[in-house]
Amino acid sequence: MKVGLVGWRGMVGSVLMQRMQEENDFAGIEPVFFTTSQVGQQAPLNAGTLKDASDIAELKKLDVIITCQGGDYTKAVRPELAKAGWQGYWIDAASTLRMEKDAVIILDPVNRNVIDQALKNGIKDYIGGNCTVSLMLMGLGGLFRAGLVEWISSMTYQAASGAGAPNMRELLCQMGVLHGSVCDHLANPSSAILEIDRKVTAELRGDVLPKKEFGFALAGNVLPWIDREVEDGQSREEWKGYAETNKILGTANPIPVDGICVRVGAMRCHSQALTIKLNKDVPIGEIEELIKNDNQWVKLVPNNKADTLAQLTPAAISGSLTVPVGRLRKMKMGPQYLSAFTCGDQLLWGAAEPLRRMLQILKE
Ligand code: HSE
Repeated sequence: MKVGLVGWRGMVGSVLMQRMQEENDFAGIEPVFFTTSQVGQQAPLNAGTLKDASDIAELKKLDVIITCQGGDYTKAVRPELAKAGWQGYWIDAASTLRMEKDAVIILDPVNRNVIDQALKNGIKDYIGGNCTVSLMLMGLGGLFRAGLVEWISSMTYQAASGAGAPNMRELLCQMGVLHGSVCDHLANPSSAILEIDRKVTAELRGDVLPKKEFGFALAGNVLPWIDREVEDGQSREEWKGYAETNKILGTANPIPVDGICVRVGAMRCHSQALTIKLNKDVPIGEIEELIKNDNQWVKLVPNNKADTLAQLTPAAISGSLTVPVGRLRKMKMGPQYLSAFTCGDQLLWGAAEPLRRMLQILKE
């Protein structure tokens, strides 16, 4: 199987490469590495030289193409390959093709049935889902599978990495500037906290703080809008919650999913506070069993302060495939209302992991 890799040097691509090496995914395939800028240079893994990512003739020779190059590349290249009669499989991290009729959103621990059916039907485009949606489904797959979800409201706390690598750097630089503006005061235990706060607030609003990527302060702040507006005051990130959840699950009757998506100063883990309306009153013990037995990565965190703060945070989960779900309890609104909190590495399950797993499915 000849497998082309495009965009393997970027942030998601690098995580993908690392995971593929860890899992020995390169065994049994012939990898071909592509580039947009360094044609002819040495490829990794002794796989010859780098090929031109816009060379349709070269791409056409592949059985599978995995791309983390981004939406513009997908827009430019996928139609050209189709025109050239290419019959291979296209595995893509970008959102461009996600909602296309002839594309499947891949999250196999949750929708392996949808993927298998698509393969039988000759579908060629397999697209990674939105990170927040994928992480929510990895955590709550058991409730969806049991058909218990009437609706979900997801209030997100999304990390800087979802906006890109430069944004992660900018967040840290902002933190540094804020600290620098008051470090003399901090060194003096008797300095006035309100004076420190005044200076920090002035920095947050001023022009010194680096804001090129986010446009605003993220350090010491939260940004309750991600991506552009779709309609009626809903952001595209919020719109994806409903559209992608239902497409991933292949629901006949769409389940309402809505909420507010917020950028916070975490590095690479997205968190979500969930309000879930169940379609019947199910004992909490049964709900816990359904959640924790759904897949091998979900981990139920006991709803107490010590376990929550030790296990249910970006700091605890970063770099791990584990998807913790906690703060699980019935809410005061009634026995069908459940609260939950979940957290997950958006570069792993939210981006790279479903892509490498799709390649493994094609190898089966
Ligand atoms: N759209 C997501 C975010 C990342 O901005 O956090 C990619 O799914």
